[in-house]
Amino acid sequence: MERRNLVDIDGNAGMAWKVYAFLGVSAILLVLSSYPGRAQSASGNTTAIENGQKQFVANCSFCHGAEATGGRGPDLVRSKLVADDEGGNRIGEVIRDGRPQKGMPAFTMTSEEIQDIADFLHSRVLAAEHSRTMGNGGYPLSRLLTGNAEQGKAYFDGAGGCSTCHSPAGDLAHIAGKYEPLQLELRMLYPRGVTPTVTVTLPSGENVQGELVHLDEFNVALRDASGWYRSFSRSRVRVSVHDPLAAHQALLSKLTSDDMHNLFAYLETLK
Ligand code: HEC
Ligand code: HEC
Repeated sequence: MERRNLVDIDGNAGMAWKVYAFLGVSAILLVLSSYPGRAQSASGNTTAIENGQKQFVANCSFCHGAEATGGRGPDLVRSKLVADDEGGNRIGEVIRDGRPQKGMPAFTMTSEEIQDIADFLHSRVLAAEHSRTMGNGGYPLSRLLTGNAEQGKAYFDGAGGCSTCHSPAGDLAHIAGKYEPLQLELRMLYPRGVTPTVTVTLPSGENVQGELVHLDEFNVALRDASGWYRSFSRSRVRVSVHDPLAAHQALLSKLTSDDMHNLFAYLETLK
């Protein structure tokens, strides 16, 4: 399969490319996860999407529609902000702050709830991409297992560099048992539970630290340890971001879709 050109997008442009880059895999996993023989496991993290959907229906569907395709509020499945979101960072900002002038109220939600909603929205985006590219005919079941687990393992341990941070006997042990395929894909594309932190150095020399909430050319915003949202103009401060996921994401951007299929076939063996 041809290598897709994924590297022309900088970090700030976000993760929209992922959605396009991994269409093939998404399609497969979506079919797998909706295949009637595969019941949703009720354990642990596998319910994040369902929890997110419940939250969404209860709080957001009134304006954004039950499928998130829009109503009084915009279509979130086609939203660039949602495509750029990673683990709730962008979506969370909108949920917490609202856009009161524009008809979007602020909500008080835990970061867990926000991440669940983000998972739900990302799963809707993947599903929409799937039906757009595959039509209604779906994807033949015989093509589900096209990846080669041995090559996936070789890639994981070798060229992929995955084993420098992960171990099949350690943090990724039983990962395939823990997540349904679609969730495993989401976990890999949108890992959660790790928020970048930032240190902002004020002109006075004082350092302010917290979870990074927003960063663009002009402004930086963080949430400090006591939960306060603070934002600064970048022209006045020095900013240092620590993102434990940066390397993980940089690697994903280099995967071909063959690598991706093989990696999934390999990860699926880690039951
Ligand atoms: C009362 C109606 C209303 C409710 C309820 C509501 N929203 Fe919104 N939302 C809006 C409107 C209107 C906008 C567009 C604001 C603008 O134009 O900037 C919006 C914008 C957004 C955006 C930004 C989209 C973009 O592309 O910029 C996100 C994300 C979002 N809402 C998520 C949510 C979530 C998640 C919930 C539930 C927790 C929710 N909204 C509840 C009305 C609502
Ligand atoms: C520089 C370190 C680093 C590298 C290299 C890396 N990752 Fe990650 N990865 C992370 C971090 C940090 C997380 C988020 C924490 C977590 O969930 O374990 C993560 C999360 C994941 C998850 C989700 C785990 C879960 O339990 O939700 C998967 C799957 C994964 N990585 C696979 C890979 C694969 C495949 C590669 C190679 C292409 C790779 N990673 C390369 C750091 C890395």
